[in-house]
Amino acid sequence: MAMIISKPFLTVEQIQKRVKELAARISEDYEGKEILSVGILKGAFMFFADIVKVIQVPMTIDFLIVSSYAKMESTGEIKIHTDLREDIKGKDVLLIEDIVDTGFTLNHIRKLLLERQPASLKICTFLDKKPRRRVEVPLDYIGFEIPEDYVVGYGLDYENRFRNLPYIAIFKESK
Ligand code: IMP
Ligand code: MG
Repeated sequence: MAMIISKPFLTVEQIQKRVKELAARISEDYEGKEILSVGILKGAFMFFADIVKVIQVPMTIDFLIVSSYAKMESTGEIKIHTDLREDIKGKDVLLIEDIVDTGFTLNHIRKLLLERQPASLKICTFLDKKPRRRVEVPLDYIGFEIPEDYVVGYGLDYENRFRNLPYIAIFKESK
């Protein structure tokens, strides 16, 4: 069984340009406030590192480690491996995610965090695979809308591999 990775679908240059645009909007929207940026690991680690560097608003950071995927299909069952260490009550929380596919993962996390009464909760996702959505989740900042293909790189994996690619590529398995 071979694994085929396309040439860049989103290049390093396209990604960096878009990250700066999103950061500029976030900086404007949160002017005068302090953000608690919450990265959803592992997938969001690269996007998170890039975007927090260019957001011009004071912030604290924290991470959630979750898993929802068995190979390429979402199970709808979300497991929190490691919860936040910060108390989010009264804070302006910005969730930073790699990709929204069916929406199960973010829907679950969003509800969980809202119960803890943050002052506000917004969601920033690098990729939005809209055609595959099963449950609606309000997305405040979207890097790129992409079609249904399975993608890897820039933090995204297939069985924990390819996360280190600096760009986004389309992944295919062939027999
Ligand atoms: P959802 O619960 O179906 O929205 O899936 C969200 C999670 O599945 C993301 O946080 C990713 O970790 C993973 N995921 C969804 N689509 C892809 C993909 O195309 N490549 C890699 N991971 C993906
Ligand atoms: Mg994943």
